[in-house]
Amino acid sequence: MLTYCNELTATDYCKLRTSVEWPDIALDQAQSGLDNSDFIIACKDGSETVGCARIFWDKGYIAYLADVMVDPKYQGLGIGKKLVLECKNYIHNQLRDDWKIKIVIVSSKGKEKFYEKLGFTSRPNDTAGSGMDMWVE
Ligand SMILES: CC(C)(COP(=O)(O)OP(=O)(O)OC[C@H]1O[C@@H](n2cnc3c(N)ncnc32)[C@H](O)[C@@H]1OP(=O)(O)O)[C@@H](O)C(=O)NCCC(=O)NCCS
Repeated sequence: MLTYCNELTATDYCKLRTSVEWPDIALDQAQSGLDNSDFIIACKDGSETVGCARIFWDKGYIAYLADVMVDPKYQGLGIGKKLVLECKNYIHNQLRDDWKIKIVIVSSKGKEKFYEKLGFTSRPNDTAGSGMDMWVE
């Protein structure tokens, strides 16, 4: 049975990265990222972690949605959608009077439609430029 919780170990997080063929990161760097996330949601099948997502938020108007991952064996079951909606719900619960908060995601290639279905706007568009990033090594 699938369950959802707010706990995620760095080891399980790294296993999920491997399952979706993302590059490895050091365990202590994974742990640091988890420790400093504002919200973490994980999906479990029994004791096995099969999906996760996390949010970090500046406590103002910007929040970043990161590491939306579902083990390929469990994709297509609505888990990714539930994980993103739980993150959105967390942010929604932070709103105060007259506030609005923008959730930013950098989509992996080919996953744009998944996010569009959940209400995200693809860039670039008529009014917004491309998202950009840079590794510092
Ligand atoms: C992207 C990902 C999280 C989607 O998770 P998932 O659990 O398979 O998605 P869901 O089953 O919740 O799908 C929700 C909806 O999005 C659609 N969808 C999912 N992936 C899609 C894709 N790549 N392109 C278009 N639509 C997609 C589903 O058909 C479903 O549509 P519906 O609501 O009309 O039925 C998953 O494929 C994944 O982990 N991929 C590898 C890691 C990755 O690239 N993550 C994104 C990082 S930015």
